[in-house]
Amino acid sequence: MLRAVIIGGTGHIGTYLTPYLADAGFDVYCVSRGLREPYQPNSAWRRVRRVEMDRVAEEAAGAFAGKIAGMSPSVVVDLTCFTEESAMALARTLHGRVEHFLHCGSIWVHGHSVQVPTTEDAPRRPFGEYGIRKLAIERALHTEARERRFPATVLHPGHIVGPGWPPLNPAGNFNLGVFETLASGKVLALPNHGMETVHHVHAADVALAFLAAINRSDATIGESFHIVSPAALTLRGYAERMSAEFGHPARLRFLPWEEWRTTVSEEDAAATWDHISHSPNCSIEKAGRVLGYRPHYTSLQAVKESVDWLRDHGRIAVA
Ligand SMILES: NC(=O)c1ccc[n+]([C@@H]2O[C@H](COP(=O)([O-])OP(=O)(O)OC[C@H]3O[C@@H](n4cnc5c(N)ncnc54)[C@H](OP(=O)(O)O)[C@@H]3O)[C@@H](O)[C@H]2O)c1
Repeated sequence: MLRAVIIGGTGHIGTYLTPYLADAGFDVYCVSRGLREPYQPNSAWRRVRRVEMDRVAEEAAGAFAGKIAGMSPSVVVDLTCFTEESAMALARTLHGRVEHFLHCGSIWVHGHSVQVPTTEDAPRRPFGEYGIRKLAIERALHTEARERRFPATVLHPGHIVGPGWPPLNPAGNFNLGVFETLASGKVLALPNHGMETVHHVHAADVALAFLAAINRSDATIGESFHIVSPAALTLRGYAERMSAEFGHPARLRFLPWEEWRTTVSEEDAAATWDHISHSPNCSIEKAGRVLGYRPHYTSLQAVKESVDWLRDHGRIAVA
């Protein structure tokens, strides 16, 4: 039985991917600090070995990579890596010892788009620390793959959505009150013309893409793939469709950014700014062609499932 180690396997993606790996016949080791449980129950977790470890503390002690290698994995899925140093420490230790290493990146590696939908081969122009660091990791892993045959693959999800946590809303932030405003038929203000975009993906689709990449290691090593829904949404279109779901025509007004930002909290304004300044719109043509990736959820279907869950669990007051 092949062994898969999943680092950070109890979160959004891991809730789905960890049981999928177990069901696919892997002997699965799930590494996390043990602070949280997966969002959904699944009997496959009974076949998963939970390993409690704090990556940050273990890396500071210089022990993390050795402990992962010591689990003798064939496949490693790294969902909690945010610096090149961290990625390379693991890659160098695992070199020659694993058949496949998969890193979870982000579509934020792209920064400002030129031609949309953005393809994986578009020149990278990231801004903001997170995207810049994710690009440094992507480049370093692909260099390892090219020059030293390290078997790395990078998957770049969009805004991950699923039942159990707040989805990115039509104002480009995570304030659940935006859904309540739309559900009650009240006026929602959006920044600018509401034409900036967001690109969601359901966590289950991300997990299936990782599984497909593992199954097609021959074609995925040394490559990056966007993992997003079939199409991005404009904020305006997203608000209109959600209002329709709630049984109302949308009542929207539009304010220039500098004015709009004063109508929301600093936290919400910062989240919206981060999302609309990126305005992602990514292609899944390559993932479809190489991985056979066919997302089960559109952006709206994914968000609706999340909103229904939040409503059913008393986290949001929508009819
Ligand atoms: N969220 C998004 O919308 C989004 C979009 C694009 C890309 N991504 C990428 O997706 C990856 C995150 O995946 P996710 O959203 O599934 O993660 P998540 O929901 O934030 O879960 C994080 C997982 O890592 C574990 N963890 C956190 N800190 C740890 C530590 N110091 N040591 C060991 N385990 C730790 C958590 O469990 P414990 O807390 O119990 O340790 C949990 O299992 C990141 O690489 C991120 O860049 C996310």
